[in-house]
Formats: sequence, structure tokens, C-alpha cells
Amino acid sequence: MDDDQFRQLLDDFNFSWAGYRKVRKGVKKRISRHMQELNCPNIKAYLDLLNKSAELRQECEKRMTVSISRFFRDRQLWHDLEEDILPSMIEREKKTLRIWSAGCARGEEVYSFKIVWDRLNKKYEQLPEIEIAATDMHPDYIEKARAGIYAKSSMKEVPPEVREHYFDIKKKGSRFDIKAAFKKGIDWKVQDIFSNPPGSAFDIIFLRNNLLTYYKEHLKIEGLKRVIKALAPDGWLIVGSHEKLPAEVLNMQRHNSIPWAYRQDV
Ligand SMILES: C[S@@+](CC[C@H](N)C(=O)[O-])C[C@H]1O[C@@H](n2cnc3c(N)ncnc32)[C@H](O)[C@@H]1O
Repeated sequence: MDDDQFRQLLDDFNFSWAGYRKVRKGVKKRISRHMQELNCPNIKAYLDLLNKSAELRQECEKRMTVSISRFFRDRQLWHDLEEDILPSMIEREKKTLRIWSAGCARGEEVYSFKIVWDRLNKKYEQLPEIEIAATDMHPDYIEKARAGIYAKSSMKEVPPEVREHYFDIKKKGSRFDIKAAFKKGIDWKVQDIFSNPPGSAFDIIFLRNNLLTYYKEHLKIEGLKRVIKALAPDGWLIVGSHEKLPAEVLNMQRHNSIPWAYRQDV
């Protein structure tokens, strides 16, 4: 499949070209395989089929999805969450903190948060209650997230002592199962970012490496407006370290050391 054909496919799904630069080769391979399985000789025949069958379209969308993640991705973020953002929330003595991971893939981001929260639990006498919602559009990622079983590739940024404390290490060190105690209290849901959020007044929303990387501008703005509405007035929206908010939603202030964390300008 050449770049022009791939672009036709992206356009059909309202995905942007930019987000696919790094991962284009792998995604093209998966799509070419799907085309072969369906005996489609060219992209036109493939698009015709996709537009007739919701099921095939869903399968294609799944093959276009990039779900790579890892624990503590963007290290500085996790450091500042633990040392600054969460402590200042705790000091405000809110009864409950509400967290949403939107587009959580297989859950690495969610369990990274749980690990940080557990460490804070050891530092503070009393912590607020925590409510965590984690959503992804793909049911099997949510199932995998619930299971909490990871390969080495997800663990690159996890120091040995953290691996030992929070994971059961199996298969000669090639499989890492999050310990059962840390799986509690997460509300996993299959849900699209463009549908209603799983709650409101969130203190932190993680929206990383999905909407702002893979979708076209008008959809980014539509999705973002929905997500921002679900933030508490002093809540943080955290995007990926390589992502930027579009100019249309720039009435947000940035965190002083993590420029990809935003708060509403009040
Ligand atoms: C690259 S992963 C990012 C995972 C994690 N947030 C991180 O930054 O490591 C992107 C995830 O976003 C999900 N996603 C993409 N578009 C979505 C949408 N419209 N609604 C819900 N989830 C979506 C994908 O299914 C995929 O699991």
C-alpha cells in the first residue's frame, strides 16, 4: 500500500496523517493483511467493503489503533504528580479525588497512578478517597487492563524495587502481573472519547497519546471540548508530552514544570 492509498484510508476515518508517521509501517502491514483476508485487490474495493459493513469497519479501525503504552511514560510527569500536583490536592483536604484515564489502552497509565498513590499513602496520615474511571474504545484492551498482565516492553521505566513490590514476576522475569491489592477501586469501561464522559468534576484527566495525536483537527476540538467540560474547575488535564492543545481551546494555563499539563484559566 503506498502513502496515497494509506492517506485515503486515514481520511475515511477522520484520522490525521501526523500521528501515524512513526507507526505507519506496522499499521500498513496490518491493513494489507486485512485486505488480503477479504480478497480486496485495491484500496477502493476495501473502502467500499468497509462502508457496507459496520463489523469490518470496526475491525479495520482496530487494526489502525496504536495501543503502545508503558508504565511511567513521560517520567517527569509522574515525578511532578507525586511531588507537587497530588500533594497540593491532598493539602486542600478534599474528601474525594476523581481521576479519569481516557483512552487507557491496557492500563499501564492507570496502574502507574495507583503506584504513585500507594507511595503517597505511606507518606501522609490521611488521604482523600480516590475514584478512578478508566475508559477505552476497544473492549479487549479493557479486558487486558483488568487482568493487569504485562510484558517486559511495558516495564522499561520501572525500577527493580518497584517491580518487586507491585508486581508478581513470572516466566523467568518476562511477565509482570500487577498484584491483586492494586487492582481494586478502578472502574474500567468500554467507552469512546466522543461519547459522554464517565462522570464529571474530575480532578485529573489523562488524555495522552490518542485524541490529539491521531484525529483530525475538527475532531480534536470537538473531543477536547467534551473532555474539558468534565474537569473540576481546578482540575488538571494531562496530555502526552509531544502533544499540544489546538489554539481554539487555549484558554488553559500550563503547569510550571510540565508544560503538557493544563488547568482552566480562572
Ligand atoms: C497509544 S494508546 C495510549 C495509552 C495511554 N493513554 C498512554 O499514553 O500511554 C491510545 C489508546 O487510545 C484509545 N483510543 C483512541 N481513540 C479513542 C477514542 N475515540 N475513544 C476511546 N479510546 C480511544 C486506543 O484504543 C488506544 O488504546
